[in-house]
Amino acid sequence: MAVRGDYLLQPVRGFVPGYDFVGVIERLPAGDRSGLHVGQRVAGILPRMGAHASLISVAPSLLVPVPDLLDSATAATIPLDAVTALFAIDALAMASGTILVQGAGGAVGAWAAQLAAARGLTAYGTASPRSHAYAERFTDSVYDYDDPTWIDQILDATTGGVDGAIDHTGSRSVRRAVRAGGRVVRTAFGGAPGQGRISTAAGFAASTLRRYARPGERVCSVPILVATQRARYRQALTELFTAVGNGTLVPPRPRIMPLVQYPDALASATRAAPGEKTILTTQET
Ligand SMILES: NC(=O)c1ccc[n+]([C@@H]2O[C@H](COP(=O)([O-])OP(=O)(O)OC[C@H]3O[C@@H](n4cnc5c(N)ncnc54)[C@H](OP(=O)(O)O)[C@@H]3O)[C@@H](O)[C@H]2O)c1
Repeated sequence: MAVRGDYLLQPVRGFVPGYDFVGVIERLPAGDRSGLHVGQRVAGILPRMGAHASLISVAPSLLVPVPDLLDSATAATIPLDAVTALFAIDALAMASGTILVQGAGGAVGAWAAQLAAARGLTAYGTASPRSHAYAERFTDSVYDYDDPTWIDQILDATTGGVDGAIDHTGSRSVRRAVRAGGRVVRTAFGGAPGQGRISTAAGFAASTLRRYARPGERVCSVPILVATQRARYRQALTELFTAVGNGTLVPPRPRIMPLVQYPDALASATRAAPGEKTILTTQET
């Protein structure tokens, strides 16, 4: 979306794309007291894009050490997608109950479904036939979002609707799948090519106005949270690295592409098979 000029937070062309990265520290500011050291492997999410580069200059407060038991490609599948899923689940503020994850076979959705299950929530997912099997690994039931009856099926299965939903489509109808006292967390607002910025701006405004509606709504934007809540973001990413390292969470399979083949990598990311994540590398593959 950003590369084709369709992303609200990066509307003007002439920027370096990419939010998240894994790398090695080459230099630290004089007098740095972060506890990090030169040569250390770290990861992070930028509040504004710029990660798709061989050298980046980043505040130490944005960096999280990568544990030795994670290889760099696997670690690189984690930051933006998994932190988005974790913050979206946090925004639901649920200690128990049922949750709907839209696109549960997608990059963010698969993390969200796993994190929901790890918190003892019952996760229902939506997916098309292409990602149904992958979504099914992490959810209790999967519904085809193109089936016009999918919301009715969820209402039947949950007797009146789920307690919370994580949605990236911006669809109003998803509200019908959630019980009146529940909550919808929006991570994106859909939009056809060329309509992304207007859909996001309109969706953000509508969702904010529905904060106290029934069900209520929240918007989860990780770039904004990274910019404003660094300690919380670092803690979240540290926890996610630990959970993947100890096998509690299953990462996608990295598909490693050289940075110098950027157009091919973009195409690969667009066509990624369910459970596969395109990773750019500056090293020879
Ligand atoms: N808020 C944030 O900070 C933040 C951070 C990262 C990403 N995002 C946003 O989150 C969204 C998902 O990102 P991603 O990287 O997970 O993308 P992704 O890997 O392409 O996954 C998207 C998923 O959505 C599913 N899908 C497509 N049309 C759908 C529909 N009409 N209803 C329900 N599900 C549908 C797809 O299922 P099928 O494959 O079965 O068609 C796919 O599994 C994007 O819009 C992205 O911009 C937001």
